[in-house]
Amino acid sequence: MNDLELNGITKRYGDTTVLADINLTAKDKEFIVVVGPSGCGKSTLLKSIAGLESIDSGQILIGGRDVTREEPGDRDIAMVFQSYALYPHMTVAENMGFGLRMAGRPKAEIQKAVKRAAEILQINDYLAMRPRQLSGGQRQRVAIGRAITRSPSVFLFDEPLSNLDAALRTQMRVEIGLLYRRLEATMVYVTHDQVEAMTMATRIVLMNHGVVEQIGTPVELYTNPRNRFVAGFLGSPRMNFISTRAVEVADGSAVVDSEGLARIRLDIHNEARVAVGDEVVIGLRPESIRLDGQGDHQLSARIGLIEQLGREAIAYLDAAPVRAIESENGLGHLTAQTDGRITLRRDDAVSIGFDAADVYLFDAEGKTLTSARTADIRSEPEMVDA
Ligand SMILES: Nc1ncnc2c1ncn2[C@@H]1O[C@H](COP(=O)(O)OP(=O)(O)OP(=O)(O)O)[C@@H](O)[C@H]1O
Ligand SMILES: [Mg+2]
Repeated sequence: MNDLELNGITKRYGDTTVLADINLTAKDKEFIVVVGPSGCGKSTLLKSIAGLESIDSGQILIGGRDVTREEPGDRDIAMVFQSYALYPHMTVAENMGFGLRMAGRPKAEIQKAVKRAAEILQINDYLAMRPRQLSGGQRQRVAIGRAITRSPSVFLFDEPLSNLDAALRTQMRVEIGLLYRRLEATMVYVTHDQVEAMTMATRIVLMNHGVVEQIGTPVELYTNPRNRFVAGFLGSPRMNFISTRAVEVADGSAVVDSEGLARIRLDIHNEARVAVGDEVVIGLRPESIRLDGQGDHQLSARIGLIEQLGREAIAYLDAAPVRAIESENGLGHLTAQTDGRITLRRDDAVSIGFDAADVYLFDAEGKTLTSARTADIRSEPEMVDA
């Protein structure tokens, strides 16, 4: 079993705590994606697992074995870096066999492992070339190949695709997904790209300022974000947030009301702490706002801008006096995601609609108040059985 267990990992640089009590168990053959904004501690966490950074407290177990004090080379881990980190003077084959050569493995075994990795990654034709003769995508494949040849218990990836152009990134994302199914290894993959997180992970670890905000399947995090940070981080375009006030609180429900917005009754969960008069924040995903005025609640709005993407269109709506806070455009526009066959244009007046069941509610600290909802979509890849 190649479980990876992190118990209470804490890491400080001087007075700054960059990892604060990180707890995580990646089950054997899981694909964990660690995602979060720049500087939140993702690379530091990965380097700590690899043994390239020391930790101040906590424990790292691989397959039940405590490796906290072990050298990187003894941890049975392979790491793929954003920068590829290939040796320029070595051929592709030599780069890929490097780890095994350092470990003193026999030549025949190294050749076999390199051949297998090259076949999996379809880089057989480049084996005699040097890294500088390869494109970015090919180099990245070599870097992944170097990790594969070592057949480690755990693969660590640190933003391996961020230097590639959009088309190649999509292609490599699919390739890594297929590779994962083929290798059946435990993987921890760091990215700041939420699309990679949503599409590749069996479970997402969403980090912010050195702490874990939430761990769960992509669909769990998307459907039931624990707080406003998680809700805002996953989903593009991001969730609309609107300040409002609780005007009625009863067992299991709350009514919110603010200027321009109808009174909305929302189901809240048992532990939710909210009182009449509290400032709260409504969250509404762009796909929950309808431009045909259908839904439990209606609002008048004016189209500020339409972004046509072909299959879909993004509409930025001026719904004053209702204003979105932390809006991507900074104008307070509400963002709606709609079918590409839209006939509306800039400055058109529309009646927009939404259902109360699609509304999230957060308290002043950002904690989710609305009760959990069931997802009508499912995660891919699915969680492996432990
Ligand atoms: N060697 C170091 N000395 C001091 N501070 C550091 C050091 N390395 C990282 N940090 C700080 O630790 C924090 C976490 O850095 P880290 O590189 O882990 O972030 P990250 O999530 O990987 O960000 P990015 O998405 O930009 O790669 C940052 O605030 C960074 O400034
Ligand atoms: Mg990083």
